[in-house]
Amino acid sequence: MSVTIRRAVLQDLPDIIAIEEASFSSPWSHQSLRAEFDNRVARYYVLEGEDGTVAAYADLWLIADEGQLANIAVHPSARGLGYGETLLRTAMEAVFHDGCRSVFLEVRLSNAAAIALYEKLGYEKTAIRKGYYSQPVEDAYIMNCTKENYRWLRHLL
Ligand SMILES: CC(C)(COP(=O)(O)OP(=O)(O)OC[C@H]1O[C@@H](n2cnc3c(N)ncnc32)[C@H](O)[C@@H]1OP(=O)(O)O)[C@@H](O)C(=O)NCCC(=O)NCCS
Repeated sequence: MSVTIRRAVLQDLPDIIAIEEASFSSPWSHQSLRAEFDNRVARYYVLEGEDGTVAAYADLWLIADEGQLANIAVHPSARGLGYGETLLRTAMEAVFHDGCRSVFLEVRLSNAAAIALYEKLGYEKTAIRKGYYSQPVEDAYIMNCTKENYRWLRHLL
């Protein structure tokens, strides 16, 4: 797999919007996706696939020593190629390197693909947020991955 992962720049916004809107029933607004470029705690990444086009993005916040995966999505045409895992590992390893002790996230109970990805990397379900999502209304798992539980921790040592 030959991919490039880099910090997003403003010129990536149309691709990020397209991936977001193809991926979620209730996507973030254009304004919210734009605002992340000015969010000082946000680390916005894009992944360019083999053909050089932006195929995925991730947005991970680091506040003091706590990380939160705000969003991750792979374009539907590029799923199942390892892009989501590669991107999330890169984003997590960067914050762990910078002092993060754990990363948490919310995910729909029905989102089996994302849950499998998170569990593969060492996330555990820690709580349920009732009615967290809309369109359709659904509960969220809160999942957490401590640095110690991160599956690829040895890469960081
Ligand atoms: C979740 C998502 C980011 C995964 O990205 P991806 O590039 O397709 O996933 P990868 O190819 O990197 O797969 C990595 C692991 O994820 C899991 N996985 C991915 N797709 C899966 C599927 N359809 N069913 C079950 N597990 C799946 C597997 O554990 C897989 O590891 P394996 O290949 O060793 O079995 C992608 O499906 C997506 O963008 N979904 C829509 C947006 C979304 O739900 N984001 C998460 C919001 S919380």
